[in-house]
Amino acid sequence: MGRIDRETVQKILDTADIVDVVSDFVTLKRRGANYIGLCPFHNERTPSFSVSKSKGICKCFSCGKGGSPVNFIMEHEKMSFNEALRYLAKKYNIEIKERELTDSEREEESDRENMFNVNEFALSHFENNLTNTEEGRDVGYSYFRERGINDAAIKRFRLGYSIERGNELLRQAGERGYNEKYLIDTGLVVRRDDGTMYDRFKGRVIYPVHTISGKVVAFGGRTLRSDKKMAKYVNSPESAIYSKSRELYGLYQAKRSISEKDKCILVEGYMDVISMSQSGIENVVASSGTSLTQGQIRLIHRFTSNVTLIYDSDPAGIKASLRGIDMLLAEGLNMKVVLLPDGDDPDSFAQSHSTTEVEEYIAAHETDFIRFKTDILLKDAANDPIARSKAISDIVRSISVIPDDIVRSLYVKECSRTLDIDEKVLLLQIKKFITERTEQQAQQNMRDKARASLDNPQETTAQGTGQTETPGFSGASPAETTGMNRGGSVHAPAGMAFIHSDRSRTALLAPFERDIARYIVRYGMVELPTIDDNDQPANIRVIDYIMQEFAFDNISFSNPIYNRLVEACRELIATDWESDRAAAEAQSLQQRDERWKTGTEEIRRTAVSLDQITQKEKMLIEAIDEEHYSRLDEHTERFFIRRLTSSPDDELRHEVTEMASSKHKLSKVHSKYAHVESERERLEELLPRAIYALKDAMLQCDIRRKRDQLKQISATGDMEAIKQIMIELSSLDNLRRDYAQKLGDRVVLPKG
Ligand code: UTP
Ligand code: MN
Repeated sequence: MGRIDRETVQKILDTADIVDVVSDFVTLKRRGANYIGLCPFHNERTPSFSVSKSKGICKCFSCGKGGSPVNFIMEHEKMSFNEALRYLAKKYNIEIKERELTDSEREEESDRENMFNVNEFALSHFENNLTNTEEGRDVGYSYFRERGINDAAIKRFRLGYSIERGNELLRQAGERGYNEKYLIDTGLVVRRDDGTMYDRFKGRVIYPVHTISGKVVAFGGRTLRSDKKMAKYVNSPESAIYSKSRELYGLYQAKRSISEKDKCILVEGYMDVISMSQSGIENVVASSGTSLTQGQIRLIHRFTSNVTLIYDSDPAGIKASLRGIDMLLAEGLNMKVVLLPDGDDPDSFAQSHSTTEVEEYIAAHETDFIRFKTDILLKDAANDPIARSKAISDIVRSISVIPDDIVRSLYVKECSRTLDIDEKVLLLQIKKFITERTEQQAQQNMRDKARASLDNPQETTAQGTGQTETPGFSGASPAETTGMNRGGSVHAPAGMAFIHSDRSRTALLAPFERDIARYIVRYGMVELPTIDDNDQPANIRVIDYIMQEFAFDNISFSNPIYNRLVEACRELIATDWESDRAAAEAQSLQQRDERWKTGTEEIRRTAVSLDQITQKEKMLIEAIDEEHYSRLDEHTERFFIRRLTSSPDDELRHEVTEMASSKHKLSKVHSKYAHVESERERLEELLPRAIYALKDAMLQCDIRRKRDQLKQISATGDMEAIKQIMIELSSLDNLRRDYAQKLGDRVVLPKG
């Protein structure tokens, strides 16, 4: 791609209208001479993003971001200046006069830009296959036809087909001079271990995924075979330009309609979006089969506050609609739910009804979410007082996350009526939930801050320059001395040596990190006894304990997969835990009640005296209570495993599956002894050890690095510097001795 000549640049800058440009991403409302909307750069519920047409700029009064149309696009779309200009030129149909790039300029072209270009090429390749090749017409096009998709919808969603044989995309991209690297980086082409390559989507129909501004960042490919062993959909992997949790399928096509109708309909699949849209309901987007993320919700919120979920009426669909909903409520969205008639999904329903019928059905069956949830949960808990109180607590929690006071109090009133509970009681419980969350948030903020300082080594380095380092995990700038920040030391030489030692560091830490990660996967939600700030006994979850320990010493995993693991766990806790737990509890209580019923009947039939009845019933209740609690324990222990073994993150899924299935060596060691305690029973002792072992391993890496430094500096004869490093080394050694003591004599150190 060439460089845009100066005249064209000026023309683009003159033509771009700020209101127009911003409106593609944010719903603006007129206020006096300016326009105002929800800021797209940070999370907010009341608009502070202001756009001035006359000045040609936008600005958020809360977070400060904004600027000219070009600045806005650069910031919002994470584009380079050049990319942003091209975007605007396309929007305003300005022809770009280019000049050839010089060699050095060509090198500057960003990887991202190259990836977008390759995707753009693939998109037109797939589209072309669909109608202009025999295979595409016979296989792909006729498939869409069979499913009732018309040409206009095919064009609107830019559907395509990937040729089955001979890696056509790879071949044609090669002919056009596209670099293999970008085909692989975008995931369009997969490289096997033996170096050979193949088209990822071969033999599949293609659903391109667009960003909100219409750039193609990913593809979904659906197989046309009914072979159960074959994944129905293959999707592009995450890449420098694609983050699954930040895109919503169909949003690019739907955004105008969402803004006009001030409402967004949320469905599950590609086909649901396309069929609904084709039938005239255009404000539809899909979460693509996974539960919604915060990022996706915010995307929707830029255009509207009204979200309607449409789900199949099967139990799984209903359950899915309950999950993650508190997150939508917390975001200040007004939630409605529509259940379709038995056996229909949005796709089939839209295909078999007229636009008016669909619209009327939605209007007639749209249920306010809280009411929907109340109905479902209470129905499940009909005659069971314990389950009922669980359900009520669950509903009240949902209400408690609603940010708007007025909306919240309306729900409280209504709930008080339907549940027949005094408003005051509900309000008290809500207040409790809110306080709880505020406290959690405060803790989270602290951890985030700790992590942020870790992620920004420059900051600490800048401060540390020229100052004496204070070795120690909780010292003034601990990140530096623990070596978590590469090259953070005053005397650190830059370059290859460090890249190399970073790699060996990761390798050395691997077994220790893996051990900690395994504790998270296997026992993350298990609660350990601890003492709180007021010296009162309290509980802390394993995952929180580990993160607290990490935050305290300002460390994180050096292997990114484990950091992703922690993120995924956090998200699961925020979205799924509560409802999952409530369901497990309700189910277990039901089992418990059944056991009680059959048990007491049996006792009454067989007992010979009243005393015996009393005694046997006492034993029975003890037994079934224990069963109940062990079912709950098991649920707690299996929670992350259950969810993460179906994570869309391939690497993470494999790792977790591995951890879930592997027998830990501990059992082997301990089977030598007479009594075998399970790892679970010894958690309180084992987990702190594992954490110290990791910290110690990190320290050892730092010591090694310092020794290397010492060697290099010795050659220069700079006595001051040598002395400095010696002091640091001896502090690190002391710290290590400290750990050794804490760990007892069973310290296992990395070899070599
Ligand atoms: P569905 O199975 O409901 O797919 O999964 P669909 O879009 O309705 O497709 P048809 O009707 O069978 O053709 C819902 C969504 O989940 C994701 C896709 O985004 C899909 O649209 N999904 C599903 C995958 O990513 N991989 C899969 O193997 C299955
Ligand atoms: Mn479907």
